[in-house]
Amino acid sequence: MVSRVIPVDPFDLVIFGGTGDLARRKILPGLYRRYLAGQMPAEARVIGAARSDLGVEGYRSLIAEALEEFVADDMRPAEAVAGFLDHLGYVAVDARGETGWADLTSNLRDSVVRAFYFSVTPALFSDLAERVHAHGLVEPDTRIVVEKPFGRDLASARALNAELATHFDESQIYRIDHYLGKETVQNLMAVRFGNILFEPLWNAQYIDHVQITVAETVGVGGRGSYYDKSGAMRDMVQNHLMQLLCLTAMEPPAQFEPDAVRDEKLKVIRALQAVPEPDVVRGQYTAAGGMPGYLEDVENPDSTTESFVAIRAQIANWRWSGTPFYLRTGKRLRARLSEIVVRFKQTRHSIFDADARGAPNELTIRLQPDEGMDLRVTIKEPGPGGMRLIDVPLDMTFADALGPDAEDVTDAYERLIMDVIRGNQTLFMRGDEVEAAWAWTDPIIESWEADDRLRPAPYDAGGAGPEEALALMHRDGRRWKDIRT
Ligand code: BG6
Repeated sequence: MVSRVIPVDPFDLVIFGGTGDLARRKILPGLYRRYLAGQMPAEARVIGAARSDLGVEGYRSLIAEALEEFVADDMRPAEAVAGFLDHLGYVAVDARGETGWADLTSNLRDSVVRAFYFSVTPALFSDLAERVHAHGLVEPDTRIVVEKPFGRDLASARALNAELATHFDESQIYRIDHYLGKETVQNLMAVRFGNILFEPLWNAQYIDHVQITVAETVGVGGRGSYYDKSGAMRDMVQNHLMQLLCLTAMEPPAQFEPDAVRDEKLKVIRALQAVPEPDVVRGQYTAAGGMPGYLEDVENPDSTTESFVAIRAQIANWRWSGTPFYLRTGKRLRARLSEIVVRFKQTRHSIFDADARGAPNELTIRLQPDEGMDLRVTIKEPGPGGMRLIDVPLDMTFADALGPDAEDVTDAYERLIMDVIRGNQTLFMRGDEVEAAWAWTDPIIESWEADDRLRPAPYDAGGAGPEEALALMHRDGRRWKDIRT
């Protein structure tokens, strides 16, 4: 299989927060990989912008170090790295003052695609938007990229949307949720809407329930001060899990086109029912197996912030009424695993002996690790001795099915940045979507905040999450798939 590289137009990409963690870890390594793939045009320029007075050479060596840290050795031939660094510029800019803006202005060209990436603390989004605009840097085709978190509740997201709308048209705003850039997430759409096999069964009549799991092994060490004010609900559920739920549950859009897709996602979010208290579990990891607990990690012995959430979500529409979507995410769990499990119903009537019956069909869409899909089907156990049924996987790990190129799956950030340059908003969240998602999560968070004596349920670091999360499913006669890779 040969990957196809579709060229993009020449661009000036300004990265505010160009020296920060995300820029070093994801954005610049991603751009470098696009450069290696031959997708970055010779005239493309990436301009780092931050407060420190680094100069272009200083910035290039900072990024050279970042590439050493975050790009595999065999992908860093010296001439390729040097060629990529030639594309980089740097401007020292003060987001809240006037320093550097004249310099930045003189660095930008009129004839190329222009994009500003706000990879900064959310507190600076409005300042940056205002200054970019005030300095006359916004042309009709200019784009801005806004990192999450997009607000911390409905009110703040609304305020931010309103603020951005005073300077930019919605078609210029690219709100990133990097889960939408993951290869398998797009494959979910390809599988659902590119095959005749699944869609007729994709509803409450045939699907018993859906499980969406995003389990991480990492704790919050290092990001404690951000995370402790946020928690798993704001950090993961309102955005990443919500997007996975939308893509699984949405109606087929009429075209694979940005607003057609986003309209359908929005309808799903708006159809989500308010979550009653017994249908949510929150948890917090405690020290185990030599790993510190959450309270030690955030250095706040009184914290009641959750590092784990499980929810039984219900979509009140014709397609899904009666089929729950169970969501679960947490830090310091047993394995790093993100997957969507679609559990079909049992056949209505079995012609086989009761004890010969196979398990219901199950489609697993794995985002990470080992991107791929796996459909469990029932067959006859080979050999004599009567009709005994077993379920076997029809496994489609992309790396096995598509050969070595599939292992080099494009990182979410590289894909999304190229989409910004192409002007394709399909994989970015629209303002109304973000607001609707907050409208659903806010009451849950408010109920927790109303009584901060309510502590999240404890779970062992390195475990499967709190007992209460298991009970959430047992209550319905169902069980979570193991967190195991
Ligand atoms: C980020 C969250 O958006 O996603 C992090 O802020 C989380 O807390 C990360 O660790 C997970 O992303 P991925 O791609 O590693 O699954």
